[in-house]
Amino acid sequence: MTDDLQKRIQAALANPQNMGEMTGADSIGTVGNADCGEMLRLWVKFKQQDGKRVIDRATFQSFGCETAIAVASLATELIRGKTAEEALALKTEELAGELGPLPPMKIHCAQLVEGALRSALEPQSVEPKKEISPAPANAPTLLDSFSKPKEGGVKLTFLD
Ligand code: FES
Repeated sequence: MTDDLQKRIQAALANPQNMGEMTGADSIGTVGNADCGEMLRLWVKFKQQDGKRVIDRATFQSFGCETAIAVASLATELIRGKTAEEALALKTEELAGELGPLPPMKIHCAQLVEGALRSALEPQSVEPKKEISPAPANAPTLLDSFSKPKEGGVKLTFLD
């Protein structure tokens, strides 16, 4: 990773935007990257503006990688005021915004954000007439998803 990119990532991380859970979100998308253990959840709230349903606000929670956090911070700002279709039309590199081009080993970090966005918005764009039901108040947090034991338990194998 170049020093310049590292500096831009650090600048985005110094003042991350839209971090945290959102109560009363219209839509939630969660994705995980099994390769690196990264997980990202995105909350989206819509509003009516000029006769269109646009994204009022989006927030995120992420575990791990700084690049994914920086991209999510920039992307949640970028999609404000866009319709779901407009947000979904954004390319991965556009979501990374002012971070600029990412090196090949970091592209999947931005794709993680894109995946969470797709997961949150796709149902609405696929079925435009169907209202998305609000997330239940007792929906598990991202931390719950990580820390609660999986159904069926975890198998530990001790090495010799
Ligand atoms: Fe895996 Fe960034 S290193 S999401």
